[in-house]
Amino acid sequence: MPEPLVLRENRSGIEIVTFNRPDKLNALNRGVMDALDRVLHDMLDDSTVRAVILTGAGPKAFVAGADISQFLEFDPAAARQMALRGQAVMDLIERFPKPVIAAINGYALGGGCEIAMACHIRLASTEARFGQPEVKLGIIPGYGGTQRLSRLVGKGRALELILSGRVIGATEAAAMGLVNHVVEPARLIDEALALASEIAAQAPQAIRLAMEAVHHGLNMTIDDSCRLEASLFATLFSTRDQKEGARAFLDKRKPAFTGD
Ligand code: COA
Repeated sequence: MPEPLVLRENRSGIEIVTFNRPDKLNALNRGVMDALDRVLHDMLDDSTVRAVILTGAGPKAFVAGADISQFLEFDPAAARQMALRGQAVMDLIERFPKPVIAAINGYALGGGCEIAMACHIRLASTEARFGQPEVKLGIIPGYGGTQRLSRLVGKGRALELILSGRVIGATEAAAMGLVNHVVEPARLIDEALALASEIAAQAPQAIRLAMEAVHHGLNMTIDDSCRLEASLFATLFSTRDQKEGARAFLDKRKPAFTGD
C-alpha cells in the first residue's frame, strides 16, 4: 500500500498532522489536499482531539507550495477550480473550532505559506523559509495569500513579498509578525506540543468562542465586532465550565474543565 499523503498521530489529545510527500518537499497535489480535507473533517467531531499541530515530513520542507507539475495543463477554469478548492480548505483550517498550530520545519512557500497563515498560531524552526514566490511562475497566490498575508504583516510588507517573490528566513518572518516564535529545529514539535497542551487545558468552549470572536470580528466594523464579542461572552455564562472556572479561582484550586 502507498504511504498516506497526510499522517496522523495523537499524543495525549494533541493531533500531529504531517504532510507526507518529502521527496517533493510536501508539495500540494490534489491527493494531499483531499487527504488534508478528510483528516480535518474527521477531527471536527472527534472528542479525543483537543488541538491540532500541522507540520511537514522530512528535514527540508513544511510545504513547498502547490504542485507546479499540474500547472502546464491548466486552463483558467481548472485554475479557478483549484483556487476555490484550496481556499475552502484554508477556510476550514481558519474556522476550525479547535486550535490549529503550524509547526513550520522548513520551506513554507506559496500554498505552504498560505496553510501556515490559515493556522491560528505559527511556530517556526530556525530552518524555516517563507515566501509567496508565485510571480516567478507568472501567477499570484490563490489560496488566500494576498489577503491573509496583508492582514498578518500589513499591506506594504505583504506587497513587497508578493511582488518580489522573495524568500525570507524565520527571524525576518518573526520580526514582521508572520510567525509567533522561532525555535531550534530539534525543539519545534515539543514547543508546539507544549503550547497546544497549555491551550487545551483551558475550557474548550471559551477557546472556540475566543477564536470565533477574533476571526469573525476582524471582518466587521469595530461596533459590530464588539457586539459580537459581548454576545459570545454572554453565551459562555450558560456553560458549566464558566461556573467551574470562577468557583475554582475562589476555592484557590485548579479548574477541572469538562467542555460542558
Ligand atoms: N511543486 C512540484 N514539485 C516540487 C515543488 C512544487 N511546488 N517544490 C519542490 N518540488 C520537487 C522538485 O521538483 C524536486 O523533485 P525531483 O527530485 O523529482 O526533481 C523535489 O521536490 C526537490 O526539490 P528541489 O527543487 O530539487 O530542492 P532544492 O533544495 O534545490 O530547492 C526549493 C528547494 C523549495 C527552493 C525549490 O524546490 C522550489 O523553488 N520549489 C518551488 C517553490 C514554489 O514556487 N512554490 C509555489 C508554487 S505555486
